[in-house]
Amino acid sequence: MTSKKRATRRSQEWFGRLDRDGFIYRSWVKNRGIPHDQFDGRPVIGICNTYSELTPCNSHFRGLAEQVKIGVWEAGGFPLEFPVMSLGETLLRPTAMLFRNLASMDVEESIRGNPIDGVVLLMGCDKTTPSLLMGAASCDLPTIGVSGGPMLSGKFHGRDLGSGTDVWKMSEEVRAGQMSQAQFFEAESCMHRSHGHCMTMGTASTMASMVEALGMSLPHNAAIPAVDARRNLLARASGRRIVAMVEDDLVMSKILTRAAFDNAIRVNAAIGGSTNAVIHLLAIAGRIGVDLTLEHFDALAHELPCLLNLQPSGRFLMEDFYYAGGLPAVIRELESVIDKDALTVNGATLWDNAKDAANYNLDVIHAFAAPFKAQAGIAVLKGNLCPDGAVIKPSAATPALLKHTGRAVVFENSDEMHRLIDDESLDVDASCVLVLKNCGPKGYPGMAEAGNMPLPRKVLRAGVTDMVRISDARMSGTAYGTVVLHVAPEAAAGGPLALVENGDMIELDVKARRLHLDVSDAELARRRALWTAPRPPMERGWTRLYFDHVQQANLGADLDFLVGKSGAAVPKDNH
Ligand code: FES
Repeated sequence: MTSKKRATRRSQEWFGRLDRDGFIYRSWVKNRGIPHDQFDGRPVIGICNTYSELTPCNSHFRGLAEQVKIGVWEAGGFPLEFPVMSLGETLLRPTAMLFRNLASMDVEESIRGNPIDGVVLLMGCDKTTPSLLMGAASCDLPTIGVSGGPMLSGKFHGRDLGSGTDVWKMSEEVRAGQMSQAQFFEAESCMHRSHGHCMTMGTASTMASMVEALGMSLPHNAAIPAVDARRNLLARASGRRIVAMVEDDLVMSKILTRAAFDNAIRVNAAIGGSTNAVIHLLAIAGRIGVDLTLEHFDALAHELPCLLNLQPSGRFLMEDFYYAGGLPAVIRELESVIDKDALTVNGATLWDNAKDAANYNLDVIHAFAAPFKAQAGIAVLKGNLCPDGAVIKPSAATPALLKHTGRAVVFENSDEMHRLIDDESLDVDASCVLVLKNCGPKGYPGMAEAGNMPLPRKVLRAGVTDMVRISDARMSGTAYGTVVLHVAPEAAAGGPLALVENGDMIELDVKARRLHLDVSDAELARRRALWTAPRPPMERGWTRLYFDHVQQANLGADLDFLVGKSGAAVPKDNH
């Protein structure tokens, strides 16, 4: 219909047609008053929206989408918003993670099957970010991320409350008789008092930071509060920018290089980010075709310091982080370790975007030379209890427990753990190692955030606040403790974790990266002969497909047949 360049756009395979099909492709879109000139070959921008009232963290996304649209129009593009499956962390059972890969398929097919030249991803609550990045990566069109932004800091009885983190603390206080039920109720509306996602450095804030560190968003995407007018500005600027990205054919694979992932891993250490980022980054890398392994996380970041004094590792919240300078100020501090040439969506490098960033509060964002915690990152453990690896976040652990040998107290599944944990007859003391099985990808199913299991009441009463805990589960990014996670292979897949029994001795030595079950090979072989594999939790539907195809945590827990990408070739006509 227009210039040669425009005629090559994939959207013109729908809207640029002069035949019967072209009529059909345009006419129905015109039913809300779209003028004919919107189909003239200008970039068509899909706005992939995870708005849902069942995802409270994303409940402001209608407004955010409108800002993106304004930006797209201002830059001469044509925006078309579409919904995808939205995964709300707090409401969705058995765990939102069970559906991350399903949502990613929705995103991938919605993009590929529609007249879209470039994509804006609106993401916020934990799993909405990786699911959208994974699905979009499998199409590999020009794509920009816009996160919803964190909530304002919680305020309760004159003090700050952090999402999640303070829930774990207060629930332990109620269990220990130090907080009344009425105060607990009151705190609910004090903790979450504005739009946005969790405002601790939990998984949502971590993944919003990863989006920025990967170069997939404009600067400051990580920390601008959801209700700050500058979040709207960012959305509008992103709408403008995606149009230029389409003109320049700046596809995702030009940004999501190995250097980008290396930078994200380093930034995750510097911000004290969630262990969930390990699984999500591995899965995103698998889609775009970057060779990333669990070992890279340790090798790249184990000696890096944590610069950010944010809950759950520290004291402040995301609002404080933004006012202190946001993620560009962190990246500025990482000058000596960052890959300065990694490209970002605005066409500049990550370093170009950060090199002039100011740090306005050294209590919140510490200097690289005087860090908040000397060693951060994710430690990757190996040993006969986790042949394919396990992870621990040392910055959220009790230093004295990072080298510990204790007697195993075993729970076969989360139901058993909940039933027995407060039983006064449970044979447990503070030196024991709590072991939880069957909470991994297949076992739960969906790899629940059950790894930070509560401490037994009788141990709590003695004033103990942490114990070594080991499982094949994940842990909420807002949680803390000496918690070994993501044990692979998981118990339900026949990993050695399935063979642990009460009374076994377990050695944890984080410095040596060792997790050892002190049981002879002969005894383990005897136990293995008695072990039987579990049946699928459901015989049909998504859960069955997931159970049959999900990979282990050390591979990102993607489905085996979803790894890689299929591109965005235009499918054949629908008539
Ligand atoms: Fe949505 Fe925490 S519950 S980000």
